[in-house]
Amino acid sequence: MEEIRIVLLGFGSANRALVEMLCSKSELLGRQRSLRINRSGKSQLIPWRVVSIVTGRHGAVCIPTETDLIYEVNLQKALKVYESGRMLDDSLIVDQDGACILSKSDYRESAHHATGVQTIELLRTLAASNSANVVIEAIPSNPRNGEGEPAVSFIRAALLAGLHVVSANKGPLAQQLSKHEEVYWNLQHIAAQSNVQYLHESAVMDGVPIFSLWQRTLPNASVTKIRGCLNSTTTMILTEMEGPNGHTFDEALHKAKEMGIVEKDESLDIDGYDAAVKLRALLVVFSNSSEGCQILVPSIDDIHRDSIRNITREDIQRAYNDDRKKYRLVATAELMNVPESNTQEWKASIQLEQIVRTDPIYNLSGTSSSVQFHTDVLGPITMTSTDPTLVDTAYGLFSDIIRVVSSC
Ligand SMILES: NC(=O)c1ccc[n+]([C@@H]2O[C@H](COP(=O)([O-])OP(=O)(O)OC[C@H]3O[C@@H](n4cnc5c(N)ncnc54)[C@H](OP(=O)(O)O)[C@@H]3O)[C@@H](O)[C@H]2O)c1
Repeated sequence: MEEIRIVLLGFGSANRALVEMLCSKSELLGRQRSLRINRSGKSQLIPWRVVSIVTGRHGAVCIPTETDLIYEVNLQKALKVYESGRMLDDSLIVDQDGACILSKSDYRESAHHATGVQTIELLRTLAASNSANVVIEAIPSNPRNGEGEPAVSFIRAALLAGLHVVSANKGPLAQQLSKHEEVYWNLQHIAAQSNVQYLHESAVMDGVPIFSLWQRTLPNASVTKIRGCLNSTTTMILTEMEGPNGHTFDEALHKAKEMGIVEKDESLDIDGYDAAVKLRALLVVFSNSSEGCQILVPSIDDIHRDSIRNITREDIQRAYNDDRKKYRLVATAELMNVPESNTQEWKASIQLEQIVRTDPIYNLSGTSSSVQFHTDVLGPITMTSTDPTLVDTAYGLFSDIIRVVSSC
């Protein structure tokens, strides 16, 4: 890849933080912003530009595709327009000198309200004209049912068209096609056939390199057990309720809302849905059935979920006074053999547990999250994300882009 031509699907917190990181980590090559890439032992500057941004309700912008001239989206202006609540449109397109190229009357009406069908058409057009080569997908999905649409359709269309995809979205990892078929492995199959990559480091625990650790650093290892706190909102609420001066559940929830870390539908956090979707996403990625015997991952509905709604600060204080124990909402999964078959299945649950002092998650607090992997080859590996910010999320996306470019 000699130039990175980026499509941003979604321009919310994650993709805007990525744009800031891309700009801050760039060097100039001529007039173009460039990233330093290590390819086959050689350090190279690879130029990049954003060629299109598509949002849900804030319009879209896309460079002209039937021309050899080099255009890009003016990112500083796009950030200002979006953050002030105005609509993105083609007035944000600039040429290499940074000059606007269109008069107001030339803006495309269709770009103002991109429907899912139009987004898919846009991706195909950008791919066919070689105007784009990497799609960054950071749009919401529904954690309650593991539903990954419309992201799954966008990712599928991009991969089929020969575009690399980097995604922050856990939905497509967790969504099931049928009991024996996962959307995720279907997308990876398409990516392999199109000779492109579908990477998703930010999808679980922000930028912590869980997936690349698994895919690149632990060859031929099998994960046999997972245990951790995957939902930071519940950890934060339970932490706030601790101690003799701890808050009530309602006060702690209110504080978490003020920090902006609670889903619009608070039940998604409190009743364990978000943790279940993240756990399922991990299990799906760690269970490549094509490599041997079949490994079944339970559906979201089949993952038992505890809620933290009914816990009181008195319960929490009692557990601490009795044996210095703390309450945490723990995601656990263990791989079991199915008798008389060539199949294994994950037993998974989200449970409110009393944690003892020797447990690695005992000291987890605030908005941190942590996961421990047991494998057939190493002692347990624990990864912790300590009070992550949007920079962590952006780095997960950024590192995936670097990985894509380094390998092609
Ligand atoms: N924020 C984080 O720290 C973080 C961490 C890890 C993973 N993630 C994942 O990253 C994704 C994005 O998160 P976020 O925090 O950036 O969300 P966000 O701030 O709510 O932004 C979502 C963006 O997606 C756009 N969008 C919604 N529906 C769309 C559609 N059908 N087509 C195109 N764009 C659409 C929205 O546009 P409008 O504003 O116009 O509706 C908005 O620009 C989610 O899947 C999230 O779970 C986020």
